[in-house]
Amino acid sequence: METTSQLKALEERYFMPAFGRDMAIVRGEGSRVWDAEGHEYIDCVAGIAVCSTGHCHPAVVKAICEQAHSLIHCSNLYYVPHQGELAKRLVEITGLHKAFFSNSGAEATDAALKLARVRTGRKKFVSFIHGFHGRTVGSLAVTHKPAIREPFEPLGMKCTFAEYGDLEALRKCVDTETAGVLVEPIQGEAGVIIPPDSFIEGIREVCDETGTLMIVDEVQTGMGRTGKWLAAQHTKARPDIVTLAKGIASGFPMGALVAREGLEFRKSEHGSTFAGGPLACAAALATIDVIANVLPQVKGKGERFSRGLAKYNPRFRGLMIGISIGDRCAEVQKACAKEGVLVNCAADGNLRLVPPLVITDAEIDRVVRVVDGALGQAGL
Ligand SMILES: Cc1ncc(COP(=O)(O)O)c(C=O)c1O
Repeated sequence: METTSQLKALEERYFMPAFGRDMAIVRGEGSRVWDAEGHEYIDCVAGIAVCSTGHCHPAVVKAICEQAHSLIHCSNLYYVPHQGELAKRLVEITGLHKAFFSNSGAEATDAALKLARVRTGRKKFVSFIHGFHGRTVGSLAVTHKPAIREPFEPLGMKCTFAEYGDLEALRKCVDTETAGVLVEPIQGEAGVIIPPDSFIEGIREVCDETGTLMIVDEVQTGMGRTGKWLAAQHTKARPDIVTLAKGIASGFPMGALVAREGLEFRKSEHGSTFAGGPLACAAALATIDVIANVLPQVKGKGERFSRGLAKYNPRFRGLMIGISIGDRCAEVQKACAKEGVLVNCAADGNLRLVPPLVITDAEIDRVVRVVDGALGQAGL
């Protein structure tokens, strides 16, 4: 096994330096990972809300291996093993009508934008300040952060950004030419920003007033992360389109789009070589079974975190937790890693914890002790 410095040296020569990083993770099991030097960590990053079933869950590994032995790929020119079954499960858990697959969250956003454009015949979108929807040229157009978007303009879709949480601001941006409003029910990359339920419900009303589609980006919040299959299900709002990725297949690359009746791609309107392949679908089906078992406990686990860290005013819904700590975030992240806990800094000095949904109470208590210690050490 290579050491961290060997991996680093290879990368520095051959890999484009788009990521800032200094650790090498080489093995995972449950909520634990190990670095190249054998140090163990409780992983509250979980591939950024991806490894919801923990690392290498035996049921997911078994499903992937069994499928790999019979068919790895066959193309969407044919009926694909597990694809229809997975679409059915996604329709059931979202309460929507039909699903389509992608390879990532950004591609799911792109698909949602295309579907909204082609079915409404409109071209404009509205999304929110500090929102994140991906880095492809389509999804980047509806992603707010100027530093990552502006160098690539002009981008494919015309988008206006409204203040998150402000329905009046939204109303001013949406008209009868707006194809869709794209919203994260909790802004994840922005640092776990949780709006009141009435904001999400109000978006539904604004969309209904103008015949605009409500597209809810559940890439980070979906698949049980907040204690329900979708974060939007904590509210009364029923989206027209939902996008999913991250937690959907335990780390096997996959995304999905699920839409209400009357909204579907027709022949040749969209497609992908790899999306919805047999391995990804097998991984996702096994993942859904594991999540279904653990879902009733997610709320309580989030509350356990929040009780333990109450003095830092954490924002949380289920196991999506954010704590505003300002410019000491990187320092706190490092201090936690030194004590065997991985956490991450989202935007604007917000510490983010998105552990596997299978994290145990004992692991939560250890994380709380370590994070509390690191925050205390930083004088927070
Ligand atoms: C809310 C949201 N949408 C879309 C994306 C893009 O997903 P991906 O990185 O899989 O393209 C992300 C990724 O962080 C996300 O958090």
